[in-house]
This record gives sequence, structure tokens and C-alpha cells, in this order.
Amino acid sequence: PIDVKFKEKRQQVGKYQGIAVWGPLDAPGQLGIWGTNVCVDFDICVADGACIEACPVNVYEWLETPGHPASEKKAFMAREKDCIFCLACENVCPPQAIKIFQK
Ligand code: SF4
Ligand code: F3S
Repeated sequence: PIDVKFKEKRQQVGKYQGIAVWGPLDAPGQLGIWGTNVCVDFDICVADGACIEACPVNVYEWLETPGHPASEKKAFMAREKDCIFCLACENVCPPQAIKIFQK
């Protein structure tokens, strides 16, 4: 599962479309954790898609990640600011790749 204390242990190494990216980042094989409130460990995400189906406010969209060993697309929190903190996505992700922070 995602390390819920990752913000204490990792550095924010950049942003993609306004979304924070936390390293280590060594694309395409290692993609780090993405997001500030809606956080997905891209190195754990297996592209199950349950999060995308579960989200009532359409926070996620697929991001192609060719060459990543776990899956070649990821749940990208493009509309992270729309999150209503229902936790549906966090609860349905099979590998527990998601952590929601309300603040
Ligand atoms: Fe969507 Fe709820 Fe997850 Fe926020 S916590 S991204 S609203 S499913
Ligand atoms: Fe990935 Fe989990 Fe969603 S595996 S696509 S974050 S349900």
C-alpha cells in the first residue's frame, strides 16, 4: 500500500498540469506519488480503474505511462480540487495505492 507518511519522507520534485509529483522519479520505470490531497502511488497503481468509476465528481482521468512495470496507464487526479473527500476511491483500490488528505 501507499506510505501514508510519504510527505515526510519524499521531496516534491515537480508538477504536472498543476498536480504535485513526489519522487523518487526515474521515468518510465519509477514514477513516484502524485497529488497533494488526492494522492496515488503510481508505482503501486495497476490500472484497476475502480477509483475512476467510484469517484462521484470525476476527479480522475487516465494518464498513459508506457514502460512502467506495474501498468501502462495511471489514475491521474486531473481535477484534484473538485474532491469532496468521500474516500470512495481510497476504499476500492485493490492494491491500496490511494490516500486522501482533507488538509
Ligand atoms: Fe473522488 Fe471521493 Fe476519491 Fe475525492 S475521495 S477523488 S471525491 S472518490
Ligand atoms: Fe490504480 Fe487503484 Fe485506481 S490500481 S487505477 S489507483 S483503483
